[in-house]
Amino acid sequence: MAIQEKLSLMIPGPTPVPEKVLQALSKHPIGHRSKEFQDLVESTSKNLQWLHQTQNDVLIITGSGTAAMEAGIINTLSKGDKVICGENGKFGERWVKVAKEFGLEVIKIDSEWGTPLNPEDFKKVLREDKQKEIKAVILTHSETSTGVINDLETISSFIREHNTALSIVDCVTSLGACNVPVDKWHLDVVASGSQKGYMIPPGLSFISMSQKAWEAAETSNLPKFYLNLKSYKKSLLSNSNPYTPAVNLVFALDEALKMMREEGLDNIFIRHEKHKLAISNAVKALNLKLFADEQCLSPSVTAVNTEEINAEEFRKTIKNKFDILLAGGQDHLKGKIFRVGHLGYINDRDILSVISAISNTLLDLGKITTIQAGEALAVVSKHLEKN
Ligand SMILES: Cc1ncc(COP(=O)(O)O)c(C=O)c1O
Repeated sequence: MAIQEKLSLMIPGPTPVPEKVLQALSKHPIGHRSKEFQDLVESTSKNLQWLHQTQNDVLIITGSGTAAMEAGIINTLSKGDKVICGENGKFGERWVKVAKEFGLEVIKIDSEWGTPLNPEDFKKVLREDKQKEIKAVILTHSETSTGVINDLETISSFIREHNTALSIVDCVTSLGACNVPVDKWHLDVVASGSQKGYMIPPGLSFISMSQKAWEAAETSNLPKFYLNLKSYKKSLLSNSNPYTPAVNLVFALDEALKMMREEGLDNIFIRHEKHKLAISNAVKALNLKLFADEQCLSPSVTAVNTEEINAEEFRKTIKNKFDILLAGGQDHLKGKIFRVGHLGYINDRDILSVISAISNTLLDLGKITTIQAGEALAVVSKHLEKN
């Protein structure tokens, strides 16, 4: 049905893809050992370093974000290593699962879903580790399942103070949405994925590795072949890839990174911050509750508590009536929350539309008055005016 072409993705990935990027995707593939492709790898690598604010290598893996997460662990750690895993949502949980799967000894630092990890908990465990047994601190920056951003800057300062532990971070929904200065914060391993702030379809993941991470790679004994990052590093020296890369996704990446450079890092961050504030304040004006603590709202996704309304029914109505796709809750949050993605190629109109759709649905359910619906739109407009 033609109308379905207007589906608006307001989920935290895959995110909408700009027209120019779609056009780049539809080009004929070229040989991945050609000079033309090597030039592309060279320019995208430089632009990836710009986005990550780093001099470190940023490697491209054909695979989803989890491939980069797994690569981060298996390339820097060894069987039985003691690591700290931060866990305050689904993706923190995934870190714990990957670490345990590879035989690491996990010290879990957790926090209730919807609340941020407490940096003081990390400080305590790291300061008590006089024997320097902790080899890595592994955590999620933007916890997509709950809409919480963790205080990575402070936690990484404690990791730095410990001096031997590596920081291994999932920045899947923070890179390209808010400031992640990899070098300034001394982040050793940073994993991300293409279908998020990068504005391209799923299929690529990215991993930046510091000098300290490469040194750890020299002694790491966990099994790896396709995800052995040393092969990727060696190939990158000649602007190449060890295996056949997703050539068309690299065309798309090149285009998307150019668009990001044109917009500028600060403007990208301001846009995401503005949209986050517009949505979170409008949600409150509609008598709905934010699931996450208000001091730690993620720049890329807002989780909304629907209380007595079934969140799945609510999402279905919005999809059928307005062709806007919202995300549901995961695990025990299914049916209890919905999540609005505002990451990547999202503009002010998308924000106005999604709040209008939510208001209209609440009006139909008799949950709000027309005055409240109007107030919510006024709140959005107030925040969108700020540039
Ligand atoms: C915070 C976070 N980490 C990791 C992932 C996993 O990425 P993928 O599904 O691309 O493997 C996601 C995907 O939604 C995510 O939001």
